[in-house]
Amino acid sequence: MELQIGIFGLGFVGLTTSLGFAEKGFRTRGFDIDLKRRETITNGYLPFLEPGLDTVLRHYLGREFLISQSATETAKESDIIFFCVGTPCGKNGRADLRYLFSALDNILPVIQDEKPRILVIKSTVPPGTTQNEIIPHIRTKWDFDETKLMIANNPEFLREGKCWEDFINPDRIVCGVENEKTTGILQELYNPFNAPLYFVSLNTGEFIKYLSNTLLASLISFSNEMSIIADRVGNVDTGKAFRILHEDKRLRGSGINAYIYPGCGFGGYCLPKDTQAMAENARSAGFEPGILREVIKTNDGMPEFFAKKIKATAQPDTPIGILGLSFKPESDDVRESQAAKIIKLLLADGYTNLYAYDPSSNASFDEMYRLPHVRYLSSAKAVCGAGTVLVVVTAWEEFKNLQLTFPSKTWIDCRYFIVKKGAA
Ligand SMILES: NC(=O)c1ccc[n+]([C@@H]2O[C@H](COP(=O)([O-])OP(=O)(O)OC[C@H]3O[C@@H](n4cnc5c(N)ncnc54)[C@H](O)[C@@H]3O)[C@@H](O)[C@H]2O)c1
Repeated sequence: MELQIGIFGLGFVGLTTSLGFAEKGFRTRGFDIDLKRRETITNGYLPFLEPGLDTVLRHYLGREFLISQSATETAKESDIIFFCVGTPCGKNGRADLRYLFSALDNILPVIQDEKPRILVIKSTVPPGTTQNEIIPHIRTKWDFDETKLMIANNPEFLREGKCWEDFINPDRIVCGVENEKTTGILQELYNPFNAPLYFVSLNTGEFIKYLSNTLLASLISFSNEMSIIADRVGNVDTGKAFRILHEDKRLRGSGINAYIYPGCGFGGYCLPKDTQAMAENARSAGFEPGILREVIKTNDGMPEFFAKKIKATAQPDTPIGILGLSFKPESDDVRESQAAKIIKLLLADGYTNLYAYDPSSNASFDEMYRLPHVRYLSSAKAVCGAGTVLVVVTAWEEFKNLQLTFPSKTWIDCRYFIVKKGAA
């Protein structure tokens, strides 16, 4: 019998997962609680910037991929239900699981029928969550057995900006499972992906995701700490030093080099909250995670490091241009944007002559942060013309050569990537 897939949450992960299974020939139903988001997708548009995913959406929409208007219909019709809802940073840095529990509670009454189902947690949740919180929570409402309900987790490793490529050609697929029956069904589902498929315990599945994200965060904070040391030493070409480091044959050509490079700190949806949540998870288990604590502290200090540099060269009434607002290039995601943190530090010290431009995010940044005294301009060149001090916060390719066109301005390159006149 053909497996029917249901997906709860149609963000970066949920929409990509829906379309990925559709591409592999499964009938997939997606539901998002946000009506506006459902309408946007139903009309064939993405609710976020994700290169290439719109073409895939238009191809599968109304065929293998259906948008559902009802959570209960999605749950009833599906054999495997994926939860891809947000798990933001909650109280004291812990993962906030309220969206996950609310999605679960919504469907529990309708799935207690004759059809066996698997619930798969794809949202990033701290190690121990499925075993110690989700399963006991479901059991308070339904004393199920494994012939009726199986619970698994399946962490997602895709990167925003490369969602489709990463989902369709994963380097590994990890499923946290409790029994052989679940393994068999998930094996059938993931067989068409032609990638190493690992079945591990529930806690191991969750742990692997945090292992990955906290390593990336640690590499970034290590690089940032080294950049601060280089700055103190003086006369160090920091960007060049890291690029030469990447020539080490143990690193050369590796994608990991993107994380072994300094900047103004990691932002976005995942690394900040997941590093915090892992640290809190460790504390709950009775262990103080010294390295993770310092990774977070270094990251938290990076906006201040650059704000000080700006203030050292600009007066409160100096026109300052901010280039880049999204947390990384090729993305319109402004969650935990370092630009917002730097601008807030400037505003706090009375800097009110601010201009900003981002190729994708002027409007979404303004809507999310509502910062006063920031004028959003329609091009990078307009910002370069308006500002005396220019601060590159996001490494968009279109900013790379701007200093060559505006050499008389004072440049602060928070990403160590712009081309300088005469630089080798
Ligand atoms: N964004 C990434 O790069 C990435 C990568 C790997 C893992 N993750 C993890 O995957 C999860 C989802 O991340 P995302 O970036 O896709 O989040 P997102 O914020 O883009 O999307 C989450 C969606 O869930 C919807 N939602 C909330 N409650 C719901 C409910 N009860 N029923 C149906 N829909 C509901 C929201 O409306 C939203 O559209 C998070 O746990 C995240 O940590 C994210």
